[in-house]
Amino acid sequence: MSKTAPLHCIVLAAGKGTRMKSDLPKVLQPLAGQPLLAHVLQSASKLAPAAIHVVYGHGAERVQQWAQHAFAGAPLSWVLQAQQQGTAHAVQQAMPAVPDDAVVLVLYGDVPLTPPETLTSLVQAGRRGLALLTVELDDPSGYGRILRDRARQVKGIVEHKDAKPAQQRIREVNTGLMAMPAKRLRRWLSKIGNDNASGEFYLTDIVALAVRDKLKVTAVSAACAADVAGVNDKIQLAGLERELQRRHADALMRAGVTLADPARFDLRGELVCGADVAIDVGCVFEGRVELGNGVQIGPHCVLRNVRLGAGTRVDAHSVLEDCSAGADVRIGPFARLRPGAQLADEVHVGNFVEVKNTRIGHGSKANHLAYLGDGSVGRGVNIGAGTIFCNYDGANKHQTTIEDDAFIGSDTQLVAPVTVGRGATIAAGSTITKDVPAGGLTLCRAREQKTYPSWQRPQKKGKKK
Ligand code: UD1
Ligand code: CA
Repeated sequence: MSKTAPLHCIVLAAGKGTRMKSDLPKVLQPLAGQPLLAHVLQSASKLAPAAIHVVYGHGAERVQQWAQHAFAGAPLSWVLQAQQQGTAHAVQQAMPAVPDDAVVLVLYGDVPLTPPETLTSLVQAGRRGLALLTVELDDPSGYGRILRDRARQVKGIVEHKDAKPAQQRIREVNTGLMAMPAKRLRRWLSKIGNDNASGEFYLTDIVALAVRDKLKVTAVSAACAADVAGVNDKIQLAGLERELQRRHADALMRAGVTLADPARFDLRGELVCGADVAIDVGCVFEGRVELGNGVQIGPHCVLRNVRLGAGTRVDAHSVLEDCSAGADVRIGPFARLRPGAQLADEVHVGNFVEVKNTRIGHGSKANHLAYLGDGSVGRGVNIGAGTIFCNYDGANKHQTTIEDDAFIGSDTQLVAPVTVGRGATIAAGSTITKDVPAGGLTLCRAREQKTYPSWQRPQKKGKKK
């Protein structure tokens, strides 16, 4: 077979995953924020295959629904296996769309962490014969065992259920991933029966058929058990989640990022860091997050689709989503930046401040307890504690504009639409319903302050004087 034989991946993903005890099909269970199947499809895509055939069955509707909005552009085809009659039967469903000159790579939808380099070695060996990915396990129970002859040549696989006691002691197991020429595979599949302990058509039976054909059977060993671990229940899912997060953490630390504790770090997307970034414990990163040089993230922050400039610091318990900040910005503790928050350089957004769809200009500060929604704030503005942009009239959202160098006193309500002019000062406790001119002091309180010196506090009923 020539090296240019097109690669066809067949992903087995029809199984039910009973032990997940979940309505969500097993291959859609999330690992690092993405369905298990997405991880497999990403690894497969890296091999630049001519086609990826996904054999699906259980939870068909939901799997298809998900597939429609993910992986646009990948050479995916979907094959329904209505009844799960075994791994050979599953592969068989995809074969009509696989040409004879192809090399086939069989993947499992619930084995998410196999490195593309390992798959590449497997495919290379599969171009010359039958190649199996195997691994040695301390506890091989449940897996198909690799049978070798005296010359250590692979001669078959025996499933756990069908294995004799001596065979059960074999620690080298079949991971299920294999590669082989399509033409051979087609011939072998036509010969497989279901006379075994499960009454299923076992793909593993092709090994004995290849040996009978005197075709070379190669065992490619996986680098470690986690690379080929499958997921059957929530405990294994959590185990692989930690494994993958540890890999993310190691990659970041190798690139120079300081992680206070790599065991308390969660990345569910892509994190791009400049030099000398430090991340404290318990943070979650989702979507695409970019952190500039020297950015510091305090403990227990959540960042989803965020871009932060150099020297910016996010303090503990802040939640940032679909927003950006420039350089040397201070955010939190306990800040919430919602979609459309755009902070320029040197802005301060402090504790219990919520910002939504609002630009804040260079050096402006909102340090305590405020809601800034649907606004535009100029440079050098000071927004006092308790300031609210009253952006919603019950039906529509309106805009608040604050020009450069304005000072908004504490507990001011700005009833949008409204504009505060450049350099204006608003006295604390004002409810501003009309545009404020530039400069000067504007206040709007119910009435001027008055003192009633002989006023008495009301007494609690029944209390003795
Ligand atoms: C299979 C292998 C076993 C190997 C083990 C590794 C066979 C006969 N046995 O056993 O040698 O050690 O994997 O985990 O191949 N699937 C379908 N349709 C089906 C049956 C299965 O899509 O009709 C999918 C499942 O969703 C799963 C994969 O194929 O992703 C493996 O099937 P499973 O039933 O888990 O195989 P095992 O019995 O674990
Ligand atoms: Ca399994």
